[in-house]
Amino acid sequence: MVKLFETLDAEFMCVTFEDIRLESLHSDILPPDTDVRTRLSRRITLNIPIVSSAMDTVTEARMAIAMAEAGGIGIIHRGMSPEEQARKVWRVKNQRHGRIATPTTVSPDAVVRDVLNMLEQNKRSFRTLPVVNDFGDVDGLVTGNDFDFCIDPGARMNDIMTFQKDLVTAPKETTPEEAYRVMLKTKKKVLLLLDDGKLSGMYLFSDLKDIFKKPSEFMRNTDANKQLCVAAAVGSGDNAFERAELLAANQCDAFQIDTAHGDTKTGIATIRELKRRYPHIDVIAGNVSNGESARRLADAGADAVAVGQGPGSICTTRIVAGIGKPQVSAVYESVRALEGYDVPVIADGGVGNSGDMVIALAVGASGLIIGRLLAGTDESPGEKIEKPDGRIVKYYRGMGSVAVMRKSADLAAKYGQGALTVGKLVPEGIEGEVPYKGPVAESLYQFVGGIRSGMGYNGAHTIAELQEKAIPFRMSSAGLRESHPHDLLHITAAPNYSR
Ligand code: XMP
Repeated sequence: MVKLFETLDAEFMCVTFEDIRLESLHSDILPPDTDVRTRLSRRITLNIPIVSSAMDTVTEARMAIAMAEAGGIGIIHRGMSPEEQARKVWRVKNQRHGRIATPTTVSPDAVVRDVLNMLEQNKRSFRTLPVVNDFGDVDGLVTGNDFDFCIDPGARMNDIMTFQKDLVTAPKETTPEEAYRVMLKTKKKVLLLLDDGKLSGMYLFSDLKDIFKKPSEFMRNTDANKQLCVAAAVGSGDNAFERAELLAANQCDAFQIDTAHGDTKTGIATIRELKRRYPHIDVIAGNVSNGESARRLADAGADAVAVGQGPGSICTTRIVAGIGKPQVSAVYESVRALEGYDVPVIADGGVGNSGDMVIALAVGASGLIIGRLLAGTDESPGEKIEKPDGRIVKYYRGMGSVAVMRKSADLAAKYGQGALTVGKLVPEGIEGEVPYKGPVAESLYQFVGGIRSGMGYNGAHTIAELQEKAIPFRMSSAGLRESHPHDLLHITAAPNYSR
């Protein structure tokens, strides 16, 4: 590995995905047996090394849920108000529960009619409610059954609830695993957690059954409470802190400081301040494309560094500003610079197929942020569009495109643009279309299959072993031509290849 990059250094040359491939090495492992777990950041693990990009045509709640269900993570974009972004984070975190930390409660005197109205107004679909009196003690529990069999809308909770003495309860420190065992044994669908008679949480059997019934089939990326993991973009400067406060209150697992130029005074001050305010929430900082910048972000406290300036399919930064290093060299250089730091590097942008993913991981990336390859799936925001020739596509645009910058001054600032006057914007991204791809889980299955295959060819049981063993070499343009399908009259579609 070092040899290739030393030669390139001497030639003052940088490489990207299609410039290199990897040697095939002796192997004692088959692809399905490889372990693709990795880290997003200092404390957040991933079961697959794939992250959906914080772009308004890629990641909102639906994509973030699907990503975490498949073992990756989604970064909710910030092209919306802080309140709306926080609601989307709430939606992901509440897709599945282990422990419900603060259940909605009702008082013993509350009237059935009023409680049902309150639930409807707040768009709550559940009707399982602990009944808590004015002193904070748990008096009982009402469930859907109690409401269904109540014929008097004027009845009070007191009249329809199951009393505390008849409930199965557990101490506040009960884990999801213990709760599941208790509920299987007692055949109770609700388990209230009590701390000296006061409510300190609740488990529902429907949630736990879903989490535990076939653990081997599930690669879900969840937190300690078995809730799906999610990240959110915050940008930098004062606006970042307003977002971060609401996101943190909704249990966001990681913040991404998603700026085009991460190595700035404001970017570094934002890392420091976010870490001071939220030491328990990991900060992914970026973007950068060289080792010194990566190290400055890590020194400021970043828990992961996003590397990529201009490699993205919709990026024009390199053409407009003349800035940014070819992605494989940028990743490799950042990884080398962060040796000994325990701060993962996440490769952001330019990934065109699973082979590119293997190469980014092999040169040291811990995960891959992906836009284009996910933008055409069902879970990305936006509708399918049928073209006159029958092709089905979805709209995909850069976060530095004119359309996005016009939407918000905050987003325009990401590319150093303050004004919202269209004529005065200098975009660094474009808008376009990508082919419709169906459910994201199918795309992820192909990507992970390709990554496992690359690991198999390297005899790598884990991603860390891939990084130790891989031997990249430079490829000639004839070698690249030979690598793609060639010399056929036409190519029939494959689920994991297009050009
Ligand atoms: P892919 O290649 O996966 O890249 O589509 C997605 C990444 O590109 C970055 N990005 C941009 N970069 N101008 C840029 O220079 C833009 O308008 C833009 N929008 C997104 C971002 O890092 C994303 O994850």
